[in-house]
Amino acid sequence: MKNPINLAIFASGNGSNFSAIVKAIKQKKIKVRSVILVCDKPEAFVIQRAQKAKIPVVLIRREDFVNRGDFEEGIVQRLKNYKINLIVLAGFMRILSVSFVKLYHNRVMNIHPSLLPDFKGAHAIEDAFKHKPSFTGVTVHFIDEQVDNGPVILQQKVKINKSDSLFLLERRIHALEHKLYPEAIKLFVNAKLKIRAGKVYLG
Ligand code: GRF
Repeated sequence: MKNPINLAIFASGNGSNFSAIVKAIKQKKIKVRSVILVCDKPEAFVIQRAQKAKIPVVLIRREDFVNRGDFEEGIVQRLKNYKINLIVLAGFMRILSVSFVKLYHNRVMNIHPSLLPDFKGAHAIEDAFKHKPSFTGVTVHFIDEQVDNGPVILQQKVKINKSDSLFLLERRIHALEHKLYPEAIKLFVNAKLKIRAGKVYLG
């Protein structure tokens, strides 16, 4: 492997994106040297998914540290132990500090269930459903110092139909997430992402 990638998937909850990424790795659609799960919630279902898939779990609880700085320092130490060089946030319910973002500049991806910059925040699908634009979508991006912001890697639309229920819309968005996130990671692993002046170019 030319540039071996040691991948850390950060998740706090269900973990359907975690499973989609791990599936793509197991099917050899994405070639990484190693993969771990970093989780901050002992009760999260994603931990069961990781155990079933035999992926190492780093469980690190915010409550075990006096402040966010120490908590993040704890994470960084673990990442160093595993020589992690790409982080993907997949439903990780914590905001990372500016110093963490700087340390892993352009090496932390996030997935967001809207066409960013529209509908930032934790309720993006519900918010789009309420406001009923013709389209919403999914965005994969590198993170920067602001929440749900940073250079867009892949973005794809999802139509909102008049007859849609929130459940149906969520289902289509999640299905697209499970396709788009492995694609974005594959582009990174294959060194196809060039970043210039805060923009991502494919090639
Ligand atoms: C996804 O909708 C993702 O876009 C958002 O959090 C959700 C995580 O879902 N950041 P899951 O835990 O991967 O099922």
